[in-house]
Amino acid sequence: MDHAADTFRTDLMTITRHVLNEQSRHPESRGDLTILLSHIVLGCKFVASAVNKAGLAKLTGLAGETNVQGEEQKKLDVLSNEVFVNALVSSGRTCVLVSEEDEKATFVDPKLRGKYCVCFDPLDGSSNIDCGVSIGTIFGIYMIKNQDTVTLEEVLQPGKDMIAAGYCMYGSSCTLVLSTGNGVNGFTLDPSLGEFIMTHPDIKIPPKGKIYSVNEGNAKNWDTPTAKYVEKCKYPTDGSSPKSLRYIGSMVADVHRTLLYGGIFLYPADKKSPSGKLRVMYEVFPMSFLMEEAGGQSFTG
Ligand code: AHG
Ligand code: MN
Ligand code: MN
Ligand code: MN
Repeated sequence: MDHAADTFRTDLMTITRHVLNEQSRHPESRGDLTILLSHIVLGCKFVASAVNKAGLAKLTGLAGETNVQGEEQKKLDVLSNEVFVNALVSSGRTCVLVSEEDEKATFVDPKLRGKYCVCFDPLDGSSNIDCGVSIGTIFGIYMIKNQDTVTLEEVLQPGKDMIAAGYCMYGSSCTLVLSTGNGVNGFTLDPSLGEFIMTHPDIKIPPKGKIYSVNEGNAKNWDTPTAKYVEKCKYPTDGSSPKSLRYIGSMVADVHRTLLYGGIFLYPADKKSPSGKLRVMYEVFPMSFLMEEAGGQSFTG
C-alpha cells in the first residue's frame, strides 16, 4: 500500500523555516532578515498572481511612462514596483531602496527605518510579459553601515558585500532562488498552500555546460574577443561538439537555466551599450552573488 509520504511531501521546508534555520547559526540575530525576506516573498507572491492573470486583468501593455533607463514602462513594471516598495517599507527593516523603475532612491521614513538596503528589479524581462514568456524579480540586500546619517553611499557598496540576494522566476512554475551567503537554495511556490517549498537544496552549477546564452543580434557591435568566443561556441576547434544556443531575453530565466543546466550567459559590452546593457546594482550584482555562491563565476569581459 502507498504510504502518504510517497505521494505527498509531508515534512515541508518552507522558505520561512529555512531562513529561520539559517538565522539560528547567528545567535546574535534578532530575526530582522527573516522579517525582511518574508515581505519580499509576499511581493513575489503578489506579482506571481498578477502575472498569472495578466491577460485577463488587463495587465498587459504599456503604462504610458518612461523610466530613468529610457525604457517605456509596462503596466506590470509599475504595479510590481509599487508592491515591492510598499512591502519593503512596511517591513520596518529597510532604510534605502533602489529600484529600476524609480529615478531616485527611496529613503525610508526614520520612524519605519531598519538596517537593510535593498536594490531590486521588480519585473525583469518586461519585453516577455505580453506573450506569456518567463519573467522575474531580482533583489540584493546590503546591511547599512551608518544608521545615523543614511546616504546614497549605503547602496553603492561592492557586490561582494551583499548579505543576501535572490530572484523569483514567474515561469511554468514560480521559483524563488535565494542565498544568504551560505550556498544557494531554490523554492517552488505551491499555489494551493501559498507557500514556497524547498525543491532545489544547495544548488551547484554543473562544472561544464553545453549551452551558451547571448543576444546574437548584437554581434555586429561586439569587440573581437567576444565575437571570437561566440564563434568558438558554434565552431569548436578542439574537436568538441558545438554548444546549443538558448536565449529568452529575461535575465532571470536565462540565469536560472544556466544555474541548473550549466553553460554561460553573457550580455557583452557593445558599441550601443559600451558597459553592457545590464544594470550593475539590481541585475548584475545579485545574480553574480548567486552564481558565485553556487560555485560558478561572474566577470566583465
Ligand atoms: P528589464 O525587463 O528589467 O528592463 O530587463 C531586461 C534585460 C534582461 O532581463 C535581459 O537579459 C536583457 O534585458 C535582454 O536584452 P535584449 O532584449 O537586448 O537581448
Ligand atoms: Mn526595464
Ligand atoms: Mn531586468
Ligand atoms: Mn525590470
